[in-house]
Amino acid sequence: HVNLKGRDLLELDDYSTEEIQYLLDLAIELKRKQKNGEVYQPLKGKTIGLIFEKSSTRTRVSFEVGAFQLGAHALFLSKNDIQLGRGEIISDTAQVLSRYLDGIMIRTFGHNNVVDLAKYATVPVINGLSDLAHPCQVLADYQTILEHKGKLKGLKLAYIGDGNNMAHSLMIGGAKLGVHVSVASPEGYEPDAEVVKASREIAKETGAQIVVTRSPQEAVKDADVIYTDVWASMGFEEEQKIREAAFKDYQVDEELAKGAKSDYLFMHCLPAHRGEEVSEGVIDGKNSVIFDQAENRLHAQKALMAALMG
Ligand code: CP
Ligand code: NVA
Repeated sequence: HVNLKGRDLLELDDYSTEEIQYLLDLAIELKRKQKNGEVYQPLKGKTIGLIFEKSSTRTRVSFEVGAFQLGAHALFLSKNDIQLGRGEIISDTAQVLSRYLDGIMIRTFGHNNVVDLAKYATVPVINGLSDLAHPCQVLADYQTILEHKGKLKGLKLAYIGDGNNMAHSLMIGGAKLGVHVSVASPEGYEPDAEVVKASREIAKETGAQIVVTRSPQEAVKDADVIYTDVWASMGFEEEQKIREAAFKDYQVDEELAKGAKSDYLFMHCLPAHRGEEVSEGVIDGKNSVIFDQAENRLHAQKALMAALMG
């Protein structure tokens, strides 16, 4: 009874708990099919455009491969190679691309670009990362946690570091799914107050606790999952030195991880900087599931494309 045909995905708050759960279940089912060598091509003859204003390894490859496996064709559209990079407006771009394509993914800086694209496009628009949100990553992340822990509701996820797009989408997704999320950030790098407010509002429905603190130790206490991300996201590279100083007490290392449950999962969206936000021992240790997360980008986005464009 869940039907997502024609919908956009700008952030996970666009979707109900039931719709997110449906996508996670479908992702697990499509993963099983692919591992068994079953061909499943509900998007035969369809096309998706992938607009990139920033670099990407996982998002680009998983969308291109995922589209191919579903029978669709993906077009890589680097912003600088299309007229958008020379000032053609988003609304014209959206309307033109909608005449050719069955779906559009966009990775951009300003979240308003994603919103505008969705407003003017007549085909589904998927946010492949903006400065505000990274919902595709978080779908794959909650799929990964579900696979490893067998459930989501009632688990505790600690996010240590920059209150960025990853922190935001993990909070919104956690609130929707009943996962308690504690974010520990240094002063000046807290998650967006509006997103915290929205997450807490959503969490009332599911019983999730959304906590924002300065203390990594407090956030990590009895956590089932420890998550971190780079200190300087794409677009903030020139702040690297200032951020290294601000975040020096926020590295996820063996000492900090002792506060979590002994079977905690270590997670990172990647790319990572060993020795900065995470120690080598933790990211390459036995609790780390970083490559499961990366793999699940493929399965989660296949579920998304099949549901929205099928
Ligand atoms: N995690 C993620 O989105 O990776 P890419 O930047 O390589 O796409
Ligand atoms: N917060 C990071 C995530 C990269 C996948 C960035 O925006 O660069």
